[in-house]
Amino acid sequence: MTDEDGYFGEAVAARYDESSAEMFAAEAVDPVVGFLAELAGDSGRALEFGVGTGRIALPLARRGVEVHGIELSRAMVRRLRDKPGGDAIGVSVGDFATAKVDGDFSVAYLVYNTIMNLTSQDAQVDCFRNAANHLGPGGCFVVEVAVPDLRRLPPGQNAVPFRVEEGRLGFDLYDVATQSMSSHHVRVVDGDATYLSVPFRYVWPAELDLMARLAGLRLRERWDGWSREPFTSESRQHVSVWEKPAD
Ligand SMILES: C[S@@+](CC[C@H](N)C(=O)[O-])C[C@H]1O[C@@H](n2cnc3c(N)ncnc32)[C@H](O)[C@@H]1O
Repeated sequence: MTDEDGYFGEAVAARYDESSAEMFAAEAVDPVVGFLAELAGDSGRALEFGVGTGRIALPLARRGVEVHGIELSRAMVRRLRDKPGGDAIGVSVGDFATAKVDGDFSVAYLVYNTIMNLTSQDAQVDCFRNAANHLGPGGCFVVEVAVPDLRRLPPGQNAVPFRVEEGRLGFDLYDVATQSMSSHHVRVVDGDATYLSVPFRYVWPAELDLMARLAGLRLRERWDGWSREPFTSESRQHVSVWEKPAD
């Protein structure tokens, strides 16, 4: 079930930081912030699509970068606002595929697989157009997203487990005909189970490059991770940077 906050309503927002604890660790956050701060430069502004509770926006702002966010979920924005420095992040409530924020940005970014929250190719294309429209000349759009895990899917199978441990079960279901997928999370606490499922659309690196070209951007860098590890045929995720031509 969704509400006006999408799949990140009150219940999910209340547990978000705790349930993504490893993504809030300094080892996970610092390389992202360093990478984005470098692209923002001395006086550049940064725009986060799906800013959430400020995992990246807050430490990036502490580095002296002016950060604005677009976010669908008011519940997530409330968590951001409650944190120290939360008031310093301008947030527009809306859909990052279409919402417009005033002014030009040096860098727009969309991390933690969140482009897959857009469940149609059209919406993902719109998202690239929207990012490009917010960039000044030479500005960059950065996306962090998984490489679709289809190599783990033998013929006839459509489920890939990503978490199987006592009290926690997580698996993805794939439809390779439509590129739709969904993640399923079962959590058992004191014998009571909760179940959450979230729909996604998985997307290939080359497909993203084409979306970028449609939006007038060109690929500048692609890495396996934020510390600029080489992207190879074994990479399970990528950090890609597309640039708006300077002229
Ligand atoms: C996985 S969380 C990531 C939050 C944050 N970027 C981080 O790294 O912790 C995805 C966020 O994107 C938001 N979101 C998903 N689809 C969206 C859309 N179409 N427009 C705006 N926000 C969206 C969700 O509400 C949620 O806060």
